[in-house]
Amino acid sequence: MRNSKLCTVLDCEKLADGLFSLVLDAPGIAGAAQAGQFVHLACGEGNMLRRPISICEAVDGKLRVVFQVKGDGTKWLSERKAGDTVDALGPLGHGYDLAKLGEKPVFVGGGIGVPPMLYSMQCARKAGAQPSAILGFRSKGAVILEQDFDCPTTACTDDGSYGVHGFVTDVLREQIARATGVAACGPKPMLRAIAEIAKAAGVPCQVSLEERMGCGIGACLVCACALKSENGETKYGHVCKDGPVFDAEEVQW
Ligand SMILES: Cc1cc2nc3c(=O)[nH]c(=O)nc-3n(C[C@H](O)[C@H](O)[C@H](O)COP(=O)(O)OP(=O)(O)OC[C@H]3O[C@@H](n4cnc5c(N)ncnc54)[C@H](O)[C@@H]3O)c2cc1C
Ligand code: FES
Repeated sequence: MRNSKLCTVLDCEKLADGLFSLVLDAPGIAGAAQAGQFVHLACGEGNMLRRPISICEAVDGKLRVVFQVKGDGTKWLSERKAGDTVDALGPLGHGYDLAKLGEKPVFVGGGIGVPPMLYSMQCARKAGAQPSAILGFRSKGAVILEQDFDCPTTACTDDGSYGVHGFVTDVLREQIARATGVAACGPKPMLRAIAEIAKAAGVPCQVSLEERMGCGIGACLVCACALKSENGETKYGHVCKDGPVFDAEEVQW
C-alpha cells in the first residue's frame, strides 16, 4: 500500500560530513515498509521532481532515511528542522526477497548504500534469520551507522583509516562460505563484483540498482534498466517499479 502524506519532521541530524539522518512521523509508510523499498520525497517548491531515498529504519510509526547531500533537493532536506513537514510518497518499489536469502544472509553496503542494509538486516532478523553485515566506506570520516547494526558486522575503509583496510569484496570472499545469501546496495561496479563472488560460491544474490527517477511509480520510463530475459535476450525494466532490488542473475551488467 502506497501513502502520500505531509509528514512531521521529528529529527534531522548530521552524521558525518555531508551525510544526514532524517526521522519523519509517518505511520502509514513505516507500517507498510519492506526491506529495500524507498520513499519519494518532495524537496521544496523550487524542486519539481521528488527524490528517491531508501528506507533506513521504520519503527513505531517513525520513518528514518539517511542521505548524502548531492544537489538542491538533498540540501533542502538536510535543512529541515523538527516540526517542519516533508511530503513523502511510499513505500515504493520491490525490495529484497529475504526468504530466498536463507538463514545466514550477509548484507553488504557500500557508502550511501549502507542505509537500506540496516532496515533489511533488521527485517531479516525479525523473520528469524541470523544476519551479518559488511560495510564499506572511503575513510574513517565517512563511516556511518556501524553502531546501529546489532549483528556481526565488519566495517572496512578504502584507505585503511578505520576497520579492515580494503574493499567489501575482500571481506565477502572470506565470509561467503558461511553465507546462505547475499543482499547488496552500493556503486554498480561493487554490485557486479559481489554478484560474481556469490555466483562462484553458488549463493543467491540480490542487488539494489540506482537510476535517475521521475515519477517513481512506473509511469514515465525515466528509470529504464537493461535486464536479461529467461532466453538470455535483453529486456527492459523499471528500477522504480520492478526494482530497485533485482536478482543479480537478472541484471544485464
Ligand atoms: C531507489 C533509490 C534509492 C536511493 N537511496 C538513497 C539513500 O538512501 N541515500 C542517498 O543519499 N541517496 C539515495 N539515492 C540517490 C538520491 O536519490 C540522489 O542522490 C538524489 O536524488 C539527488 O538529488 P539532489 O536534488 O540532491 O541532486 P541533483 O543532482 O540536483 O538532482 C537532480 C535530479 O537528478 C536526480 N538524481 C540525481 N542523482 C540521482 C541518483 N543517484 N539517483 C536517482 N536520481 C538522481 C534527482 O532525483 C533530481 O531529480 C537513491 C536513489 C535511488 C534511485
Ligand atoms: S521513475 Fe517513472 S517509470 Fe520509474
